[in-house]
Amino acid sequence: MFETKVLKAGPTSLSQEKQFASAVEKGLSLDNKCLPSWLIFDSAGSIIFKAITELAEYLPAACEFEIIRNQKNKIAKLITGDTFNLIELGSGDGCKTRILIEHLLNEKFGFHYYPIDISSGAVTNLIRSLEAEQQDTRLQVTGLIGDYFDGLNAIIQEGPKQNLVLFLGVTLNNMNPDSARSFLKNLCKTLGPKDYLLIGFDLMKNPKLLYSAYNNPLFEKFNLHLLDRINQVLGANFNKDNFVQQGQYNPITRAVESYLYSTCNQTVHIRTLNKDYHFKAWETMQTEQSFKFTLEEIEKLATENGFQVEEHLFDSRKYFVNSIWKVAP
Ligand SMILES: C[S@@+](CC[C@H](N)C(=O)[O-])C[C@H]1O[C@@H](n2cnc3c(N)ncnc32)[C@H](O)[C@@H]1O
Repeated sequence: MFETKVLKAGPTSLSQEKQFASAVEKGLSLDNKCLPSWLIFDSAGSIIFKAITELAEYLPAACEFEIIRNQKNKIAKLITGDTFNLIELGSGDGCKTRILIEHLLNEKFGFHYYPIDISSGAVTNLIRSLEAEQQDTRLQVTGLIGDYFDGLNAIIQEGPKQNLVLFLGVTLNNMNPDSARSFLKNLCKTLGPKDYLLIGFDLMKNPKLLYSAYNNPLFEKFNLHLLDRINQVLGANFNKDNFVQQGQYNPITRAVESYLYSTCNQTVHIRTLNKDYHFKAWETMQTEQSFKFTLEEIEKLATENGFQVEEHLFDSRKYFVNSIWKVAP
């Protein structure tokens, strides 16, 4: 059975529109304007991101594909019973997971796959393409449109099955250290002793390689799409022609930081917020960050947030790692 559900925001969380408005207002009011990258992901943003993941110079996707293709056997060995939930947080197009799904079905597992994503287009397209390519009745699929934890809590309430949770790509890399810690602490409280987390980390590497991954016309289009989103969701009048994008590795913050530069003096009005924001010529607005990790930092992050590392799965160049974690006893 294949289905898609729209999640209701939890009782303490704001609706998606309110979260969007509040993040934009907060980010544009800072002395150094800075917006979180999750704002970029609607259906069109997900399509541009998918195209980025197909670029040879965008190493995280190529490396993670290699890991899943070559080490799917090790991942399948984490399953202890006949049935389990395969839960994917921020699934996007689920391209890498489809390799794993195929393998798990070949290994005769029956399971329920739950991709969770705030981008409705990403979830709908993923369900549609899985439906077209999978006829195996041992596979059940429920796509959940909404926030990670609203999705996880809904699944866990359905009963006590083993959960294999995937958090792939550079989604953790994109979080600032405080958000990463609170995300992992929350996840640790939600998972049980038999559950596993497979989590992706882009590793620190030659900054010249990092530069070429984050500076190309598609990356610029992706970052500029944020302005379309603010125009559409909040009735703003950003003109994309008045901005250019550049990304660079900052050795002090240890992150690749992407900026939109205002090419002229300009004032942008945001109708829903009833506010004007002034940009001086060449003023920057940060639109993305991607922290680069060492293995020591990954292990510290796991143990400080209640997990233990079971194993690291690397690509052949050791540019990326998918780390297998369990909740520490
Ligand atoms: C960097 S992309 C990674 C996509 C995919 N996992 C991959 O490896 O290609 C991050 C994904 O997380 C989703 N996302 C961001 N914040 C989210 C949230 N709070 N809840 C659910 N999904 C979220 C985005 O829509 C996007 O599809």
